[in-house]
Amino acid sequence: MGRLVFELLLALLITGLSRFSTIKYKYPTPAHDANQCSGYRLTSISPTDHGLNGSLVLAGNSCNVYGNDISNLALEVTYETDDILHVKIYDVEERQFQVPDYVLPRKRFQGAKNPAYEFSYTDNTFGFVVKRKNNGEVLFNSTGVQMVFEDQFVKFGSQVHDIMNVYGTRDIGSPLRENIYGVHPFYLDLRRSGRSHGVFLRNSHGMDVFLSSTSNTSEIEYRALGGVIDLYFILGGEDGSPKTVIEQYTDIIGKPHMPNYWALGWHQCRWGYKTIEMVKEVVENYKKAEIPLEVMWTDIDYMDQYRDFTFHPINFPLSKVQSFLAELHSQNQKHVLIVDPAIYNGDDYAPYKEGADLDVFIKNRDGSIYYGRVWPGYTAFPDWFAPNTQSWWTRQFQRFLKDVPVDGIWIDMNEPASFCFGSCGTGHPPGEPPGDSPGDPVFGPGVPDYNLLNPPYSIRNGSPYLSSKTVATNATHWNNYTEYQTHNLYGHMEGIATYKTLITINPKTRPFILSRSTFPGSGAYVGHWSGDNWASWPYLYYSIPGILNFQMYGIPYVGADVCGFNESTDEELCNRWHSLGAFYPFARNHNAHNTIAQEPYVWKSVTEATKKALHVRYTLLPYYYTLFAVAHEKGTPVWRALMFEFTDDYETWNIDKQFMIGPAVLVTPVLEAGHVDVEGYFPKGIWYDWYTHDPIYGANWTKVDAPLGHIPVHIRGGSIILTQRPAYTTTESREQPFELIVALDETGHASGEAYLDDGVSLEPVESLRISFRICDKWQVVMTSVGSYKPNAKLEKLIIIGVGLDLVIDDVHVDMDKNAIITF
Ligand SMILES: *[C@@H]1O[C@H](CO)[C@@H](O)[C@H](O)[C@H]1NC(C)=O
Ligand SMILES: *[C@@H]1O[C@H](CO)[C@@H](O)[C@H](O)[C@H]1NC(C)=O
Ligand SMILES: *[C@@H]1O[C@H](CO)[C@@H](O)[C@H](O)[C@H]1NC(C)=O
Ligand SMILES: *[C@@H]1O[C@H](CO)[C@@H](O)[C@H](O)[C@H]1NC(C)=O
Ligand SMILES: *[C@@H]1O[C@H](CO)[C@@H](O)[C@H](O)[C@H]1NC(C)=O
Ligand SMILES: *[C@@H]1O[C@H](CO)[C@@H](O)[C@H](O)[C@H]1NC(C)=O
Ligand SMILES: *[C@@H]1O[C@H](CO)[C@@H](O)[C@H](O)[C@H]1NC(C)=O
Repeated sequence: MGRLVFELLLALLITGLSRFSTIKYKYPTPAHDANQCSGYRLTSISPTDHGLNGSLVLAGNSCNVYGNDISNLALEVTYETDDILHVKIYDVEERQFQVPDYVLPRKRFQGAKNPAYEFSYTDNTFGFVVKRKNNGEVLFNSTGVQMVFEDQFVKFGSQVHDIMNVYGTRDIGSPLRENIYGVHPFYLDLRRSGRSHGVFLRNSHGMDVFLSSTSNTSEIEYRALGGVIDLYFILGGEDGSPKTVIEQYTDIIGKPHMPNYWALGWHQCRWGYKTIEMVKEVVENYKKAEIPLEVMWTDIDYMDQYRDFTFHPINFPLSKVQSFLAELHSQNQKHVLIVDPAIYNGDDYAPYKEGADLDVFIKNRDGSIYYGRVWPGYTAFPDWFAPNTQSWWTRQFQRFLKDVPVDGIWIDMNEPASFCFGSCGTGHPPGEPPGDSPGDPVFGPGVPDYNLLNPPYSIRNGSPYLSSKTVATNATHWNNYTEYQTHNLYGHMEGIATYKTLITINPKTRPFILSRSTFPGSGAYVGHWSGDNWASWPYLYYSIPGILNFQMYGIPYVGADVCGFNESTDEELCNRWHSLGAFYPFARNHNAHNTIAQEPYVWKSVTEATKKALHVRYTLLPYYYTLFAVAHEKGTPVWRALMFEFTDDYETWNIDKQFMIGPAVLVTPVLEAGHVDVEGYFPKGIWYDWYTHDPIYGANWTKVDAPLGHIPVHIRGGSIILTQRPAYTTTESREQPFELIVALDETGHASGEAYLDDGVSLEPVESLRISFRICDKWQVVMTSVGSYKPNAKLEKLIIIGVGLDLVIDDVHVDMDKNAIITF
């Protein structure tokens, strides 16, 4: 393996896990026995309209290493497009679980005319090779990794004589080297040739993915607990550019949703705002400190005994919540509430009673409702596969939001988390469980469902048992799907159900949903935060690769808890974190209840740092919004690793402590305590300091000043950025004059684009696409297409070049008109 960027792991660990795991993982069972297996023989193969169909049979005796070998397999190779090759190997009887189309729609493509790849195979011991045609590069060669296809163990992989630079295999949260939250079996592989490709495995089972290398070979090996081999190879055009690979990946899984304009404002949350008065006070304190606050959040504190769809009668009385919300809305601010999937088990609790009547909950094998334990006590879990669940879920929200029309929903604990092992509430009377449940039960090989609870192959799970702190893997979903098969789809499906619910309630408005557990395709419905991070310096850094990874997963609206969630932060860390967090696509301060207060107004230095950084963010809002529009249309990442913009500069390949926002803005944060400057890499070109306009010439590593409270931001020469003068909320900012930053390159050129609409409509009737470019040395040409008319005009140009720093402030240009502005 070459350089493992974004701290690649030995193992990619894939089963969502709950929040409070304390049990040490055991290492995966060594799978070397599997190498003794005999593999498969291709017995027939024939061309189809867009590929090949073949049959495979087990080549020798069964080896049954971690399950039962499946003798007969089908091979389906589909040339989906010129750049997308689909290779699927599955059991002919189709008993293995496959991710259903309604969970992740299977895109039907046109077929290839002139494929950029070549697919070849060997038949005696079946293996296949995917090559990039134009340079002969071997992208995937399954021959060197023995394929084993058993009911509970599916192993395959690729060995190539090349260096794989693999990106995108880790979510960042806590813990670091175990499985957490979401599952994204996708990687981007950038080769020495400077070309990259993507590989997506459509499989929802828990799995390990191992990467290893010698001086001249690289290997990737998947070991899944079931399912099928369902691979998409994504070539990213002639030059295999990482941006194009991600755009094509989102052709397969779906494009990211378009966030509301207000979602790009600053958010504040805390577990531990115990009363509505405290929540109100935070909003007031922000205002007093003149720190912009767009969205106020409430964590589980608002609920009555932690039951969904309720308000605590004393701490959050409905009437006070309603008047708070009305006041917030009158100030153009928003409110988001948390909702957990687990439903309190008690017949006096209507959501439970209705759900039980409509048969919407996950079950035990005998057909009774499965109970676990979450915040409210013993709970049932909605089964998103069951036919009545959607309408039941929608009805709960209809009732709830009728009284309290909040602006967004935060879905947490949807791995799904449960605080005990196995069926801990089943068989107990409803109500509060008595203290902590006893230790993990031990299941011997004799018990029914032993293999679902303890599959023969153990992945590197966060705990020895897959069912620890989550719904038992032998629980049953509709259609007899098991939790073992579908666990990793839970949060994704809750996201879809919640999205459909919010669209039913407000058909014209973009839903705002933040979700903890995600799967490929989730970005079409939800945004994401990286879960429970820690208030420590390393986590400040991890937030960058974490966010960069999610850009590749088609979930660009993502952030990490600013200042850290768990344990108490400190002034310097919180200062730096606000400076960086102000640039997160989703920017929210959030911490746990047993930690110190960390709102930015708590310390004067943090107040100043936050105001300064948010001033930059809010100035950039039209630019940021445009990047989201591009992401929504094409799938292009919003935050970009430098490697995405400067792929042919090898120096950028390993950089994950700086990032670009779109093509034009480079951010170089301080990530360590006690520093007053920071060394950053400035790729080829000119980079202008955001604050002083001083140029830095690339390509070079350069130290820049970064005293506490200051975050270095640079504008790439050659860019034109549409900005708007900031105000307290995004609503007010949208009324402020537009300004253009024109940053010239060495040749005096620059260009840029902008997208504007009303900021909230699901399908805006009117929008505006504007392009800007320098033409004839002293002119900016602006071309507008569309009918949307913003309230503000373009009133200022800031022209930055070598030895040039001009402000033109006598312009008054309508944004929906074409114009030539001379300077
Ligand atoms: C290829 O196999 C698939 C799945 O069995 C089948 O639907 C399709 O009709 C086959 N195509 C041809 C041309 O045999
Ligand atoms: C694929 O791997 C096999 C086994 O390592 C090797 O013999 C073969 O030459 C490789 N094919 C290509 C095209 O590299
Ligand atoms: C790879 O390197 C090993 C030694 O590290 C050498 O024995 C082997 O021949 C090399 N293989 C190729 C294909 O270059
Ligand atoms: C899972 O299996 C165990 C052991 O057989 C059993 O006690 C438990 O009830 C089963 N759980 C479900 C959800 O079926
Ligand atoms: C689910 O399994 C039960 C018991 O094995 C069986 O009776 C039932 O028909 C199955 N249901 C479906 C939809 O396959
Ligand atoms: C938070 O930190 C404490 C103390 O280090 C630890 O015991 C606890 O497990 C952590 N909680 C979470 C949610 O990670
Ligand atoms: C690169 O930066 C270093 C110090 O940051 C400076 O000494 C050197 O001259 C620069 N090189 C170029 C080519 O600009």
